[in-house]
Amino acid sequence: MKPTPKTFHVKSFGCQMNVYDGERMGELMAAQGMTATDDANAADLVVLNTCHIREKATEKVYSDIGRLRKHGKDPMIAVAGCVAQAEGAEIVARAKVDVVVGPQAYHNLPELVAQAASGNAALDTDMPATAKFGALPARRKVGPSAFLTVQEGCDKFCTYCVVPYTRGAEISRPFDTIIDEAKALVDAGAREITLLGQNVNAWDDAAGNGLHGLIHALDRIEGLHRIRYTTSHPNDMREGLIRAHAEIGKLMPFLHLPVQAGSDRVLKAMNRSHTRDSYLRILDRVRAVRPDIALSGDFIVGFPHESDAEFEETLSLVDAVGYAQCFSFKYSPRPGTPAAEMTDGFVPAEVMDERLQRLQAHLNRDQAAFNAATLGKRCTVLIERKGKLPGQMLGKSPWLQSVHLTTDAQIGDLVEVDIVRADPNSLAGMERMRVAA
Ligand code: SAH
Ligand code: SF4
Ligand code: F3S
Repeated sequence: MKPTPKTFHVKSFGCQMNVYDGERMGELMAAQGMTATDDANAADLVVLNTCHIREKATEKVYSDIGRLRKHGKDPMIAVAGCVAQAEGAEIVARAKVDVVVGPQAYHNLPELVAQAASGNAALDTDMPATAKFGALPARRKVGPSAFLTVQEGCDKFCTYCVVPYTRGAEISRPFDTIIDEAKALVDAGAREITLLGQNVNAWDDAAGNGLHGLIHALDRIEGLHRIRYTTSHPNDMREGLIRAHAEIGKLMPFLHLPVQAGSDRVLKAMNRSHTRDSYLRILDRVRAVRPDIALSGDFIVGFPHESDAEFEETLSLVDAVGYAQCFSFKYSPRPGTPAAEMTDGFVPAEVMDERLQRLQAHLNRDQAAFNAATLGKRCTVLIERKGKLPGQMLGKSPWLQSVHLTTDAQIGDLVEVDIVRADPNSLAGMERMRVAA
């Protein structure tokens, strides 16, 4: 039995939706009168908000639990997130944690913690449709760039991916509740909102507004300066959303549209339901309306049976697109997914390593080229934090590049700068004008 916790620490792994969930769990516990601490080893309650996407991500949970037991003050441990959903009671059996709570049930965290304090391990991995949002406390204080989950779950069932199993079916939050939360975020200090969803561009409502309709409505919120959205699926990239990139000044020129691979045979085996060509045609349409758009994607190398020639097709697709920045991963077999059964086609580790290195060399080259092309441009920067040097601040360009500059502007200010230096991973800006303070 553990005493009722007074202090808590939330550690989030994985995607931005998990970061959002972690923030909301923190707000929920603060509303119960608990105090947040930055030091996990000093907390009475540690929430590990986990990710199940690749094997390494999952292993981290168990090593973290071990470390907390060794260095912490024997805290109450709650496992939340996608590992909680996927492994449920197994975690209690294997690691003797106090609470296991899935991504759709974390609004019940206070009751689960109370149950654990009374000596019974508490488990909740139910998946009610978006019930949690209505049960969470209002947003109070956020940074200048805030996340807002609008869509959850996935119906696409790519053969390598656990998300449809851990996050459930695709669900869109209602229009009005999103607008209300966006206004609350702006009142709480947000200048930029990133709309989140596993397939955010599948967001829709009964009126058929589509994500672009939602973005048009957000555009009218005074005090909100920038809108972004992630992650999108190629098959949900509708005309209205593409046009929104030309019509809405607040919508930043950035599109994260994962393709995963460049070979049609591999894409089919992945059940991606788009082809290399259909993907490239979408990018052409986006670039036609917004020529300066920064493109981003995700790649998996070494999907079962991927041949050398098929991998070369991924490289040639990368060369054809010219991405601004990307994520790339080695295929990781996940329990319960169809691809994990394709054991006769598993690609040897050293081949995966070599493919990943070659792919990343192409992606790094293109990122450096994209950054170099912004040299001399004038753009706004949203200041997000202090830099390492005195008087230095860090923020983001419209194209999501990190920009550092010397300024007396404060966190949350929007500054117009000239880009005076471009490095492979960041830019330097020279202040010209304060846009909004
Ligand atoms: N909904 C998004 C992304 C979800 S997960 C989409 O459809 O693209 C984020 C990324 O993790 C994926 O785009 C994919 O590149 C990678 N990923 C997912 N499952 C994986 C696996 N089993 N092994 C390696 N990478 C994986
Ligand atoms: Fe996973 Fe595919 Fe769904 Fe993305 S679209 S979350 S990769 S199943
Ligand atoms: Fe990971 Fe779950 Fe996000 S598996 S990537 S935390 S949806």
